[in-house]
Amino acid sequence: MTSGCIFDLDGVIVDTARFHFQAWRELAHKLGFEFTEKDNERLKGVSRMRSLEILLEVGGITATEEEKQALAERKNRRYRELISTLTPADILPGVMDFLLEARSLGKRLAIASASKNTPLILERIGLKDFFDAVVDGNRITKAKPDPEVFLTAAGDLGLSPDQCIVFEDAVAGVEAAHRGGMIAIGVGSKDRLPEADINITTFLGLKCEDLLSQVETILKK
Ligand code: BG6
Ligand code: MG
Repeated sequence: MTSGCIFDLDGVIVDTARFHFQAWRELAHKLGFEFTEKDNERLKGVSRMRSLEILLEVGGITATEEEKQALAERKNRRYRELISTLTPADILPGVMDFLLEARSLGKRLAIASASKNTPLILERIGLKDFFDAVVDGNRITKAKPDPEVFLTAAGDLGLSPDQCIVFEDAVAGVEAAHRGGMIAIGVGSKDRLPEADINITTFLGLKCEDLLSQVETILKK
């Protein structure tokens, strides 16, 4: 039976992708090339440094390790400026009701994110002390699709992987959940996340109890 729900943060709990995009795009402009929303899709769920490498690839730019460090820091300064405007109103539609229902059903709740800015984001949206466990990019060493972040979260909840389900909006995150032995709920269409066990496009109107019974059906197969 599912006892724990593990949530990715960016793109699942809050829409920070637009701020990542804005900060990366400004950096691309400074470097003299265009960076599109389609390019930005490739950065979802990917670590900061790997994101920069993809961006530089798009612009056909090579940089030394030192230069890359400076560029990543510059992007992050701008990104932090942008996310400092977040408020609880930026929590994605339906998420809060879903979390509260899950809690009322006795489920343990965790955040598992690649972002080193997780503490700032959770503070800004008023959920700093809400979750039973928070595992973020400051603590893990292997990026998704490695399952480290999810396995650590399950461990922190005191649960085994098969007692947990994962909510993810990134292809790499769905793969990470599966590699960790967990059911993956894809937050996005089947087109975008074909490997997810169940796809949802919004939390709005989604009943945790109904979703968990769908999960049970999959587990029984
Ligand atoms: C992930 C985002 O959650 O965190 C990625 O989906 C981002 O787009 C990554 O690159 C790292 O974030 P940060 O905040 O540590 O730069
Ligand atoms: Mg995400």
